[in-house]
Amino acid sequence: MEGRPGRAAVVVLVSGTGTLLQALLDAATDPAVPFRVAGVVTDRPDAGGLDRARATGVPTAVVAPKDFPDRAAWDDGVARAVRVFAPRLVVLAGFMRILGAAYLAEFGDRTVNTHPALLPSFPGAHGVRDALAHGVKVTGTSVILVDAGTDTGPIVAQRAVEVRDDDDEASLHERIKVVERELLVDVVSRMTAHGWQVTDRKVRLA
Ligand code: GRF
Repeated sequence: MEGRPGRAAVVVLVSGTGTLLQALLDAATDPAVPFRVAGVVTDRPDAGGLDRARATGVPTAVVAPKDFPDRAAWDDGVARAVRVFAPRLVVLAGFMRILGAAYLAEFGDRTVNTHPALLPSFPGAHGVRDALAHGVKVTGTSVILVDAGTDTGPIVAQRAVEVRDDDDEASLHERIKVVERELLVDVVSRMTAHGWQVTDRKVRLA
């Protein structure tokens, strides 16, 4: 199944535990799903996502900033690691770094990021905490196309999640991630099967 020709190659970038990556790996075990996870790239040698990839036999690459002389060289290293897998789509699934000019020039037209809030509200590294602190009653998850900003790219899809009175950051984030995993699999399936169009920031999935 993995590696079978004919399905769209997807590269997943992770920094953390990788439960969103796991959802993509699990979905791809169904041969009817239009994508396969061709490779996993991380900035952190200790990322849990690496074990998940290895357990499924998916090739991995570690591109740690400390192994590069500067940011531009690291950015170039990420592009090189991704290029190996010739992806139709790149998914940032809990990847906690901003990608720079070299990466965006090559893959910016086919990279999505998933964020645990309803953008444009609460961008940045603490979307769940910030939404909770603001006292919103509804938050959710957004899948966006990446651009040079922090969570500013065109919105591909969103789903809402209600905030409960007794929520803390962990409980709310976990409920968001349940929705986020399902949304991400759906979006990646649709984008790889049929493509997408962007007009004046409006993304249409074919
Ligand atoms: C997700 O909520 C994602 O939106 C955010 O980081 C989380 C990743 O979770 N950027 P996991 O590591 O896949 O469990």
